[in-house]
Amino acid sequence: MKNCYLINFDIKGDERGSLVAIEQQKNISFEIKRIYYIFNTEKSFIRGKHAHRELNQVLICISGNCKIKVDSGKEIKIIELKERNQGLFIGQMIWREMFDFSADCVLLVLASEYYDEEEYIRDYDEFLKAVEQ
Ligand code: TYD
Repeated sequence: MKNCYLINFDIKGDERGSLVAIEQQKNISFEIKRIYYIFNTEKSFIRGKHAHRELNQVLICISGNCKIKVDSGKEIKIIELKERNQGLFIGQMIWREMFDFSADCVLLVLASEYYDEEEYIRDYDEFLKAVEQ
């Protein structure tokens, strides 16, 4: 899907365990201005339900697993995040919903911009209209 894809990060592993390193503009395409993480989630709740006009993000499930529905307005995909070295890039103007969180899920998000409620689109019809333009 245009503007939304999985990234496989290299695992630096040895007998002591595994390590993934993320460096802005090296293995992730933007400058990281903000990091947040979602935890203590309930399996039955859906999060997200919005798109961003400006923001690019990479989502990494660093514990447990969850599912992400991504919707470009033309195409919908459901992606399961469960691999520690896998990141889901979600660019501008992609509607996303996060659901089916395992009890131990910790979803780490790397974001290209500071938090700005103004650049959210939280209404699905408004999102579809904006995609058409
Ligand atoms: P919300 O957008 O509802 O989270 P999700 O996308 O997971 O559904 O955000 C939850 C609350 O956290 C809301 O009050 C806004 C606040 N928030 C910040 O203050 N900073 C941030 O970077 C983010 C992502 C959310």
